[in-house]
Amino acid sequence: MKIQRLTDDNHNKAAALLRQAFPNSRYEERLFNNLHKKGRTVYEWVCIHTNRYIAYIAFTKAYRGNDVCGLHLAPLAVNPEFQHQGIGSELLRFALRQKEVKDTTIYVLGAPKFYERFGFVRCDQPKCPFDPGNKHFLALRNDPHQHFTVGYEPEF
Ligand SMILES: CC(C)(COP(=O)(O)OP(=O)(O)OC[C@H]1O[C@@H](n2cnc3c(N)ncnc32)[C@H](O)[C@@H]1OP(=O)(O)O)[C@@H](O)C(=O)NCCC(=O)NCCS
Repeated sequence: MKIQRLTDDNHNKAAALLRQAFPNSRYEERLFNNLHKKGRTVYEWVCIHTNRYIAYIAFTKAYRGNDVCGLHLAPLAVNPEFQHQGIGSELLRFALRQKEVKDTTIYVLGAPKFYERFGFVRCDQPKCPFDPGNKHFLALRNDPHQHFTVGYEPEF
């Protein structure tokens, strides 16, 4: 298995993987397509196993007003055939070491049990506009004393 950056000519493989990993929702695939169509900054990596794209991770800019204040991790997806084998964890650990990601604040809306393993902590601030009460909102390298509602790219 190898991990590499997603290249422009392999977008269809990543989109197919998102359909498989989220069988009940087209949201993630649409988000992926729309972010790229609009030319947003997306830091993204894939796991490739015997020429198949089996996992995908992406980061996009997080905003405080018009200023970039970190990155949002979304989505992280593993092909169902390969879930619960440590692949999502390996891809996430790899991504968190990359230069675009390693020194900045990272936000994620996801399962606390999963993300806490990687040092993410639940946070009350900033407020996540998609999660009333911030029940599933976590961050890494966050300053919880800054009170604001975090912004996303408009495609979210
Ligand atoms: C969540 C996901 C990225 C984890 O990747 P993975 O390679 O299966 O995970 P790993 O094998 O590295 O780690 C396993 C842990 O992931 C968590 N996990 C796995 N599937 C999960 C799911 N559907 N929802 C929440 N947590 C999940 C569990 O905590 C699990 O721990 P356990 O085996 O002790 O129960 C992957 O299962 C997936 O793509 N699921 C569908 C898409 C999704 O829900 N993505 C959003 C991530 S919050």
